[in-house]
Order: sequence, then C-alpha cells, then structure tokens
Amino acid sequence: MKQDVQRIQEETLSELKKLSTLEELQELKVKVLGKKGTLTALLRQMGGLSPEERPIFGQVVNEARDILEGAWTRRTEELSNAAMQKQLEEEKLDISLPGISLPRGHQHPLTKVIEEMEEIFLGMGFQIAEGPEIETDYYNFEALNLPKEHPAREMQDSFYITEEILLRTQTSPVQVRTMEKQHPHLPVKIICPGKVYRKDDDATHSPMFHQVEGLVVDRGIRMSDLKGILLNFSREMFGESREIRLRPSFFPFTEPSAEVDVSCMLCGGAGCRICKGTGWIEILGSGMVHPKVLEMGGYDPREVTGFAFGMGVERIAMLKYGIEDMRLLFDNDLRFLQQF
Ligand code: DAH
Repeated sequence: MKQDVQRIQEETLSELKKLSTLEELQELKVKVLGKKGTLTALLRQMGGLSPEERPIFGQVVNEARDILEGAWTRRTEELSNAAMQKQLEEEKLDISLPGISLPRGHQHPLTKVIEEMEEIFLGMGFQIAEGPEIETDYYNFEALNLPKEHPAREMQDSFYITEEILLRTQTSPVQVRTMEKQHPHLPVKIICPGKVYRKDDDATHSPMFHQVEGLVVDRGIRMSDLKGILLNFSREMFGESREIRLRPSFFPFTEPSAEVDVSCMLCGGAGCRICKGTGWIEILGSGMVHPKVLEMGGYDPREVTGFAFGMGVERIAMLKYGIEDMRLLFDNDLRFLQQF
C-alpha cells in the first residue's frame, strides 16, 4: 500500500507539470484528493491493516497529501500569474488615455436663488430657522391671528389632511414656532426658507412653491428697520440701483402691514411689459408683528416689537432670470435647466 501512495504521488506530480489551465488543475485535485479521489480511497482501506501499521500508514498518506497540496498551490500561482501576464500583453491598455466622463448636474435655479437669499440675510446677522411642512391648523392660522372662520383664510386655498392638520400654506407658522422656542431671549432674527402648498395651478401659480419668511423681534424695532433691511436685500439681489416702496396692505398677523415693491430691474423704473408700465414690481408682504402674535410666541408686546416679511422664491427667480412661466421650474426639462 505504501507503494501505491508513492505511485499516486509521483504520477500526480508529473501530471501537474503538464496541465496548463486552472480548470484542469482543479479537476485533477478532485480526482486525487476529493471525496472519491484515489488517495482518499487508499485511506479507506486502512481498516484492513493491523493496529500497529495504521498510524504509520496514516502518516505516509498525510505526508503525500501535504506534498501534493503544496505542489497544487505553487502550480495554481504559476498558472494564474501566466494568465495575468498574457492578458496584460494582449490588452495593451493605455492608462494615460482620458476616461469617459459622466455628465455632471448642477444646482436648480430655485436652489441657487434660495442660497443667494440665505447668503444675503446671513450677512445681515440673520439665522436660518426651519419648521414642518405638515402643519397644524393652530400654527398655520390661529397663532397668526387667523381664527377659524376668519375671512382671510379664504386667500389661501389649503390642502387639509384632517380638520386640524394641513400642508402649510405659508412659512409664517415658523414665526410662532421660533418665538416659542427662543423666548425670552432677544433678539429673534431669523429667515425661514421652505416649501408651501396651495390649491393653485397656472402659469404664475404652482400647488407647491417656496417662500422665505423673515422675522425680527427686539426692543425698539421700528418700521424703518424693516425698510432698511429690505432695501439692502433688494439691492444685493437685484442690483445696486434698485429702490423700494411700501404700500399699505392687510395681513392678519401684522399691523400695520405693507406690500413691498422694487423698482423694475428690466426698465429701471421707466415702465415696461414686465412691470406693466408702472416701473414697480411687487416682491413681498410685510409689516410690524401683531401684538397678539408676539404674545402667542411668548413675548410681551409692551416690551418688544418686531417686523416680519414673506416672499415667494419662484417669483424672485422668475424676475431675476426673466422666466415667464412658473411651470418651467418644475418640468425638469434639461434644455431649460442647463441655462442657469
Ligand atoms: N404669509 C404671507 C403669504 O403667504 C406673506 C407674508 C406677509 C408674510 C406679511 C409675512 C408678512 O411675514 O409679515 O401671503
């Protein structure tokens, strides 16, 4: 039996040298060392040996197996190196050739405008606040001095989820949420960019759009502070030579309230199609924070005053880039988007 082991070992070693593929190597390994392999079969015959002979024979088989496995590993390495070498020679790969570049996207015009606005207000000492898009009736309306049945709710056709929960129609609820969190600390000086939702859909309205809300609360805040901040914003956003004007208006959460116009960035105020011949373009609503709103935010209106404003980002983007249909901003047509 010892001779058998010897023979298998020698035959296998010489065959190994002749094989030229990894598959053949594997096949031979199974033939000899596998469950039904020739060497394994010899081990099974050990039962016929005397108890003294068994361990000696076992050792012989194990040695043969070690030798064979070592030879396999070396031969496998040789063959795979050779295969790699061959592949390298055949491929003639030139790694200095330029690669295939993937097309790169860029920011959406609305994101650009929002970031630009944030930069301008951060530069004036504002912080950025956030609030939920799924909002309660309380924060969206009641805490802004718009009780149930208030006629001004009609101006904002809303998506209700339940009677008490809706998609926010404006970023103004973040005013009260921020004051609640921050009181009694002063000053409150935030802007809040975000998505808002209304049942509106035409060339100048989209059911989802963006607003940027602003709120400043401190001792001695006056309407002139509002005007100064907004004039500075308009000039940074639309150009140094812009002027603004405030027109009386109504919002339930501000008193007094004003709509703010900026002198037309296209004609400079002379009158054109965009400003409908008036020289002015409305960009936002604003006013002095209503005492009830300050109270609901946890501040004492006898001690502090504040101003607030809210503007539509799409409108600002359309004015800035001369876009005539708001829906273009949401169609995701690359021919449009690549222009920015
Ligand atoms: N939330 C108002 C709207 O969506 C805009 C607005 C007006 C916000 C006046 C304000 C403000 O903070 O003071 O129509």
